[in-house]
Parts: sequence; C-alpha cells; structure tokens
Amino acid sequence: MKQISANHLDDDSPGKFKPEKPHLINRFRHHYPYLAKLTVWTFLFLGLILVLFFQSPPNSSYSSPISSDPSRRSLKTRSWGGPVWEKRVKSSARIRSRTGVSVLVTGAAGFVGTHVSVALKRRGDGVLGLDNFNDYYDPSLKRARQALLERTGIYVVEGDINDAALLKKLFELITFSHVVHLAAQAGVRYAMVNPGSYVNSNVAGFVNLLEACKNANPQPAVVWASSSSVYGLNTKVPFSEKDRTDQPASLYAATKKAGEEIAHTYNHIYGLSLTGLRFFTVYGPWGRPDMAYFFFTRDILKGKTVPVFEGANHGTVARDFTYIDDIVKGCLGALDTAEKSTGSGGKKRGPAQLRVFNLGNTSPVPVSSLVGILERLLKVKAKRVVMKLPRNGDVPFTHANISLARRELGYKPTTDLQTGLKKFVRWYLSYYGSSRKSDQ
Ligand SMILES: *[C@@H]1O[C@H](CO)[C@@H](O)[C@H](O)[C@H]1NC(C)=O
Repeated sequence: MKQISANHLDDDSPGKFKPEKPHLINRFRHHYPYLAKLTVWTFLFLGLILVLFFQSPPNSSYSSPISSDPSRRSLKTRSWGGPVWEKRVKSSARIRSRTGVSVLVTGAAGFVGTHVSVALKRRGDGVLGLDNFNDYYDPSLKRARQALLERTGIYVVEGDINDAALLKKLFELITFSHVVHLAAQAGVRYAMVNPGSYVNSNVAGFVNLLEACKNANPQPAVVWASSSSVYGLNTKVPFSEKDRTDQPASLYAATKKAGEEIAHTYNHIYGLSLTGLRFFTVYGPWGRPDMAYFFFTRDILKGKTVPVFEGANHGTVARDFTYIDDIVKGCLGALDTAEKSTGSGGKKRGPAQLRVFNLGNTSPVPVSSLVGILERLLKVKAKRVVMKLPRNGDVPFTHANISLARRELGYKPTTDLQTGLKKFVRWYLSYYGSSRKSDQ
C-alpha cells in the first residue's frame, strides 16, 4: 500500500503541476462553475491526505518487532516483481553456451559472489544474482560491484534469502540447475555486536534457501560457502576435512558449522546435492573492507597505527591467505563436479552427493609478513603496534590441507601472497585513488 502511494507521489509531485493549476481552475471557473468547485475541493482533500501521510511515523504501516533488526531490512518493502523485473531476471539467467548451466548466486554483490558470477557469465552460463545490500560494510562498494556485474550482463535481484515468496517466484521463473550460495553474515568480531544477524543469515536464511531448493522441480545442486573457522580451537595442522570441527571459537564459526549440519539433513531427507566449501582468508581486488589486509592498506596510507597481533607466549599469528582467482576456480570446480540432486516433489528418490572441501593456499603467512609486503607495495612505512590477539573469536593459525579438493575438484592455487597483494593494491589505489573515500 505504502509503496504504491509513494510511487504515486514521485510521478505527480506537486511542483510538477503547480504552474498549470491556476490556469486550469480559472478556465473551469468561467465555463463550468460546478466543476471548478469540485476541483478545488478535490485538491484540498488530496492535500489533506498528503499532510497526514507525511506526518505519520515512518514504517508505521508495516513495522514489526523483527524489522528493527538491520539484517531483515530488505524484507520490509517488496522491491521485486512485475513484468519488467521478470524480463530482467529471465534475460540474466539465459544460458549462452551449449554446455552452459543456469545458476542462482546469492550474495552476488559480495566479494566472492561478484567474482564467481562474472566467471560463470564469461563462460556462457546463465547467472542470476541475489543480494540484500545490507550495510555491514560500505554499501557503496557493493553498488560498485553491482555496476560491474550489470556491465557483464548479470542482474542482481535486490532481496533477502529469508524472503520465501521471492525465492519461490525465482524458482518458478527459472529452472536453476545450480545454486551457489554465498550470502552470509561474515566477520568474527561483529558477532558480539549483532549476534542476531548471524543466526538470521547463516542459519535461518540458509534453511529458507534449502527449503526453496528442495521444493524446486527439478532440485538444483547447491554449492555453498562454509568457512575455515569451523576448525576453531583445533591445534592439529594442516586442517583436514576429517578433523574435528566441534570447538568453534566464535558465533560466526558456530553458525557455519550449524550450516554444515543443516546441509547434512537436507541431503539425507530430501536428496539435495550439497557441497560446502571451507574458505581460508580470501583476499584480492573488490575485497571486503573488514578484512585485515584491506584496512591495513587503508591505515598504512593514512599513517595510522597497524595492530600486529601475536598469540600466547609471543606466538605467531598466521593466515593461509587465498587469492580470489584461486577461490573462483575452486568454486567452479565444485559446481562442475556436483552431481544432480535426486529428490523431486519435495521427496528423496535416492542417495545424493554430500561434500565438504577446504579451499586454502597451504602456506600460512604471519601477519607481520603481510604488513611487510604491504609496506613495500605502498612504499610507505607502517606504524606497527604489537598487540595480543584478543580471545574473542580469532584463532591464531589457519593452514589448509587441500589434497581432497585437488583430487576431486582439480583445485590448484597458483597465486602467492606477494603476487595477489600487488593486484589488490593496484585495484585499491585505482578504486579509492580518485574521489571515493575508504573511511568506514
Ligand atoms: C590431507 O588430507 C588427506 C585426505 O583428504 C589425508 O589423506 C592426508 O593424510 C592429509 N594430510 C595431512 C598432512 O594431514
């Protein structure tokens, strides 16, 4: 209701017909006195409605306790639907190569989502994006990625994975053979600020998406982003897929682990083909501003101090940094080796594929080396401060065993941190160099 009246206001803004109004009324007054009176009253009445409309508190017609949660924001207004929208959806999802598949990419305006979507589109697959454009980090970066996607011919539906009606509509419009599910609430420390958004996106949203997939006919195969953080307090390195993952160190990790268990049930009960990918510290151009390599770059350039974390007993804090192009190849490898789901009509018809893979780089780099590489690339000396790694979710060390992904997906990372950061820095300077601000 509200949206309709809002659109109406946009179309007929008072300013637009003001100059004509007196002229019209004068003519009516001379020739049709009764009509003139009616017109005046009509305008007065419309004016009254407008005044009331603007005085009513925002959201009054549709606010619910849940909508105060920022992660549910996009559920408030229905910004999808209609023939023009459907046309854009279909055109984006159209397969352009003989061997192509049709893929729904959730979190398409995110870092990994953008790169995966472009790679799929370039090889001729039909790609439809979905993203809620939440403001966990600077939404203008997401909009810039969206512009990049649109130039590639990819439409990003603005909506939430918790919107069951939207997902149902998308599956009615398009026969997706695959879903690449990358929408999630990321970040380890933000979980202490907004725990609800992790449950909302990574648990409830995932279940909602799997429900739509299980009901679809045919069911798509699903490839989705888990996380290396599921290894939690593990001390055995390198991390292998069979290692225990029952000691998460953050709520983020716990919701990703929950996702892996939820995936198991949907595979078991409904015959959904599911592949979980445990990403290890993905970095590169168009990356996420909440990641250390990203804000270190910003802070070094600004002359701000850079925290170099150390573990207990001056232990090294290191990450298995994985370059985005390698991750994209791993995602496409997972998609291309995914078997079909076996269920139909919401029922299982036979056993289906259930997989989980590490996608890392197998060479952990200490955070101090990361800072050193950035200093050389930026030609600026960093103001380092050594700090204890807080015990609020970050683990001291990540190191992937990728032999399973190598064997099953042909996954073979080729970019070392030096090479990858050089590409990141080049992008960073061109993106923020002109007029944009990187302050967040
Ligand atoms: C790596 O994982 C594979 C299973 O995928 C396992 O056979 C191998 O022992 C692991 N390597 C190490 C060093 O843990």
